[in-house]
Amino acid sequence: MLDGMRTPMVDYCGALGHVSPTDLGIKAARAVLQRSGVSPGDVDSVIAGNMAPGDFEQFMLPRHIGLYAGVPVEVPAIMVQRICGTGFELFRQAGEQIQSGAANVALVVGAESMTRNPIAAFEHRTGFKLGAPVGFKDFMWEALKDSAAGIDMIQTAENLAKKYGITREAVDEFASSSFAKAVAARDAGFHAGEIVPVVSEKFELPGYATRGISLGKLTEVAQDTHARPSPVEVLAKLRAVHAGGVQTGGNSAALVDAAAAAVVASGAYVKARGGKPLARVVAAAVVGVPPEIMGIGPAPAIRLLLERCGLRLEQIGRFEINEAQGAQTLAVARELDLDLGKLNVNGGAIAMGHPLAVTGVRLTVTVAREIQRAGMRYGIASACVGGGQGIALLLENPQGGAA
Ligand SMILES: CC(C)(COP(=O)(O)OP(=O)(O)OC[C@H]1O[C@@H](n2cnc3c(N)ncnc32)[C@H](O)[C@@H]1OP(=O)(O)O)[C@@H](O)C(=O)NCCC(=O)NCCS
Repeated sequence: MLDGMRTPMVDYCGALGHVSPTDLGIKAARAVLQRSGVSPGDVDSVIAGNMAPGDFEQFMLPRHIGLYAGVPVEVPAIMVQRICGTGFELFRQAGEQIQSGAANVALVVGAESMTRNPIAAFEHRTGFKLGAPVGFKDFMWEALKDSAAGIDMIQTAENLAKKYGITREAVDEFASSSFAKAVAARDAGFHAGEIVPVVSEKFELPGYATRGISLGKLTEVAQDTHARPSPVEVLAKLRAVHAGGVQTGGNSAALVDAAAAAVVASGAYVKARGGKPLARVVAAAVVGVPPEIMGIGPAPAIRLLLERCGLRLEQIGRFEINEAQGAQTLAVARELDLDLGKLNVNGGAIAMGHPLAVTGVRLTVTVAREIQRAGMRYGIASACVGGGQGIALLLENPQGGAA
């Protein structure tokens, strides 16, 4: 991975709520190409991810991101989808393409507008039957349910809380520390190192329609918006999503709009170009787990990854495990007997948000930057996946560092 950048992650219905995910993706893609110094003409594969259709253009999202980022018209683009694991899957696919010789330089981009999740109906193409119910529903709310297991994503975390004996107090304490770490990392300037501020601007493509971003009266959006000091006593007062449960709006992943992009290239390309990459993408692992405890996915995915790479858990300096829900992340930590001091040290999705297809790119870039910052050798980024999967990536600091 030569470099990775993202837009700020902005609470849904906020400043980025009117921006198409395609334009957020173009913004992140242009930024990472510019900062890495990779010419768009060198990119020979565009791999993009997006979950919620943010407008009627979603079919074209990968293609338009590639074209408006300046990638040549001959270069193909594909959409990849593994729900909350999508961002990681982009790197996995880039790695496979590069390893097989199908590509030399891949542009990977995750883009998500949680705000623009449609209010959708699927039965009305043939009309409305008199007296029959009208089927329009909130795509976001409905899509967070798993009809096979008959429960929503928050309930999958409640199942883990019961299974691992995780209390509301423990979840709030974990959430409070996620907020504190995110605020500290923001104030120390760590997050700014991966953020490209979003401004009103036009994206030109000679011979084709001009598109762009309009922020209305705002001149710039430069920071994540969700993180704020959140003492346990404040979080403890919030109402549980499901009566008697441990999950609340304060200790579950925040809903945000964002995009993130990275450039992944072959060793030969990196060598020929000179300079140091951000990280080596060493390996990936994906597993299935029971849908009703989907949140445990990172535990077997990380175990499989370590087994494949011949490494032990103690050799990994940093972990970024997506905080879909507080009880879910704690269950993974307990299952792996993970040192919490190595986990999400710059804050997690509870404090910063979880824009579905973006999260894997964000966490992979963050862990790569963090192992460099801390002078460590290995980092793992991982997430659970609705429907019951887990995915994990191993990153290596090219500067070495202590194992
Ligand atoms: C949990 C969830 C349903 C909550 O949604 P919501 O009700 O819209 O959440 P809100 O952000 O409005 O938070 C609820 C309340 O907590 C408050 N709150 C949230 N975080 C807080 C914090 N850090 N400090 C103080 N108050 C906080 C809000 O202000 C709000 O208060 P209000 O009701 O008085 O306005 C939603 O965030 C969710 O589903 N998250 C998980 C997403 C997910 O599962 N993703 C996929 C994983 S597989």
